Amino acid sequence: MSQAEIIEKIQKLKKEKNAVILAHCYQRVEIDLVADMVGDSLGLSRKAAETDADIILFAGVSFMAETAKILSPDKKVLIPRPEAGCFMADMITPEDLRKFKSEHPGVPVVCYVNSSAEIKAESDICCTSANAVKVTASLGAKEVLFIPDKGLGGYVNSQLPDVNVISFSGFCPTHMRIIPDDIDSMRNKYPGAPVLVHPECRIEVIEKADYVGSTTGIINYAQQSSAKQFIIVTEVGVVDRLNRDYPDKEFILISDKAVCQNMKWNTLEDILISLEKDMYEVELDSDLSKRALLSIQKMLDVK
Ligand code: 13P
Ligand code: SF4
Repeated sequence: MSQAEIIEKIQKLKKEKNAVILAHCYQRVEIDLVADMVGDSLGLSRKAAETDADIILFAGVSFMAETAKILSPDKKVLIPRPEAGCFMADMITPEDLRKFKSEHPGVPVVCYVNSSAEIKAESDICCTSANAVKVTASLGAKEVLFIPDKGLGGYVNSQLPDVNVISFSGFCPTHMRIIPDDIDSMRNKYPGAPVLVHPECRIEVIEKADYVGSTTGIINYAQQSSAKQFIIVTEVGVVDRLNRDYPDKEFILISDKAVCQNMKWNTLEDILISLEKDMYEVELDSDLSKRALLSIQKMLDVK
């Protein structure tokens, strides 16, 4: 089947089944051709919470589909390739979290959305890369536990001098591969090009940034800036979309190692099969889902 035929079938099925496709901007770029929304974790969560579709097909990794199910428990949520996990989310277990909490009794827990439903259920509030600083500040606490990402936790700590942010030891292998020398050599090669960095990077890389933000934040910054060249310090999917959408500007990927294999599982064929067969459906214990919703809802309520 040609790509055009696959796309046509997907569009037809979406209408017949009243389905929406939500895609993260690290997905293969051709998936945008069938997506109703492409965005960062915060935007996609908001969309999952408000859609009136009967089916949400999530083109992303499993914690994202799980988050959509928590926000819309009465809807059918599909993930075409359930093996698409997140290495960072897998770095903390509920036992690890209980131990971390027992070492810091009474200290509130902020959990990055890149985490399982069990972890969300045992945290005080959830956050994404787009709102981590605001969410953490909203607690009004002097000390906060941040899980699982030490990169984002370190960034939040640097932005809130009055809060001691104690981070768990998790990290994103894709972003950790980028080192400060990569930034220095790119700056030498492209002098004057702003360096736009995702806060999952190591703090030494973040410190060299001109702008730090979520994937959508990086895209918006690049769109609005008058610069003509940009150094993009996040996953390759963001660069693919920027080069497609702004052909009069140049976007340079920091390193060819900046690829998340898990985000590349889904193909258009997988999406077609998923919609045809209603698979794979995200199933969550309803009590767990309700407890996890509390921390996500608290995040969405932060203005
Ligand atoms: P955002 O798109 O929310 O910035 O998150 C990036 C990410 O790593 C998703 O796993
Ligand atoms: Fe997880 Fe990193 Fe991949 Fe995002 S880029 S899904 S944090 S492994």
